[in-house]
Amino acid sequence: MKQHPLGNDPTVHVSELCLGTMYFGTRIDEPTSFAILDRFVDAGGTFIDTANCYCFWTGGGQGGESERLIGRWLRSRGLRDKVVLATKVGAAIVDRSRPYSALNREGLAAATIKAEAAKSLKHLGVDRLDVYYTHVDDRATAFEQTLRGLAELVSNGDVAVVGASNYPTWRLALIRDIARRSGLPLFRAVQMRHSYLEARHLRVPAPEVSQFPVTPELLDYAGTDGALTVLGYSALLEGAYVRPDRPLPPDYDTPGADRRLGVLHAVASELGATPNQVVLAWMLAGTVPVTPVLGVSSVAQLDEALGATTLRLDEATMRRLNDA
Ligand SMILES: NC(=O)c1ccc[n+]([C@@H]2O[C@H](COP(=O)([O-])OP(=O)(O)OC[C@H]3O[C@@H](n4cnc5c(N)ncnc54)[C@H](OP(=O)(O)O)[C@@H]3O)[C@@H](O)[C@H]2O)c1
Repeated sequence: MKQHPLGNDPTVHVSELCLGTMYFGTRIDEPTSFAILDRFVDAGGTFIDTANCYCFWTGGGQGGESERLIGRWLRSRGLRDKVVLATKVGAAIVDRSRPYSALNREGLAAATIKAEAAKSLKHLGVDRLDVYYTHVDDRATAFEQTLRGLAELVSNGDVAVVGASNYPTWRLALIRDIARRSGLPLFRAVQMRHSYLEARHLRVPAPEVSQFPVTPELLDYAGTDGALTVLGYSALLEGAYVRPDRPLPPDYDTPGADRRLGVLHAVASELGATPNQVVLAWMLAGTVPVTPVLGVSSVAQLDEALGATTLRLDEATMRRLNDA
């Protein structure tokens, strides 16, 4: 699997696919999770994604199950130096008896960042978080405060590189600009929702919204900046591209979806690939590439996804997919 410097930082190289582990240790049992992690590393994968809050909303989880499982896997395999571990802070629920929203999230205050990083280090059983994301934009906390919290972790060696997830582009550009001008840590990675089908409308910054999509504006910004890797999560729309039992999530069921699905399936059959593989290969082959954060619950699903790394989409095919 190809490797590239994250956000053009020569000190952190990551694989072109990132393995998401959101349900590891809750919905996905330990032997299956270990088998997926083993296969990913065997295939040359190095980039592993988790979060402090995975996965409080499913399988009896409280948050921390995914990090702790990765910690056990790392210890049993002795692979710490072979992988780049990314985790996140800021999206954990505060009061489980109330609905989840910006008003009931831990947020990005410096004290929260410091306390949660210490917990993540312990759960993972490591002395450094290779990539530390702010999980969701927090409009109630000043950017300077969040950046100062991250700066302390970087300066004491707890964190190597910082990233952001779920910000509108204008807020991301603003916080990175403040970081650059103040000599504070610069987000080198941004992780947003992204797939071949486009969602119906851009998310508005309402308190209940916690996910933001990759937009053309974000790709323009990242491509121009040159020091920002874009990652896309939920690329396979929970399996909806290939599974009749999985309807498209409502936001993706748009008037243009049928046309796009038609081209996707035609391209897949012409190339002898699966629609999932074409989606992932399309993300990787964009003018500004988007690193998929894979969601898989079996080794077979992972193997299918890995096939995307050798699928070449020529210029004409990319134009056809983009124009649909
Ligand atoms: N930053 C954020 O806010 C954020 C948000 C969400 C996710 N993430 C990250 O992104 C990762 C992936 O997210 P996601 O789970 O939402 O991704 P997804 O791509 O939308 O869904 C993954 C699911 O699709 C199904 N699937 C995968 N491969 C398949 C195949 N070959 N054939 C049929 N079905 C297949 C599986 O469902 P079954 O398990 O039911 O078979 C799998 O669990 C997470 O683990 C996490 O690391 C980040």
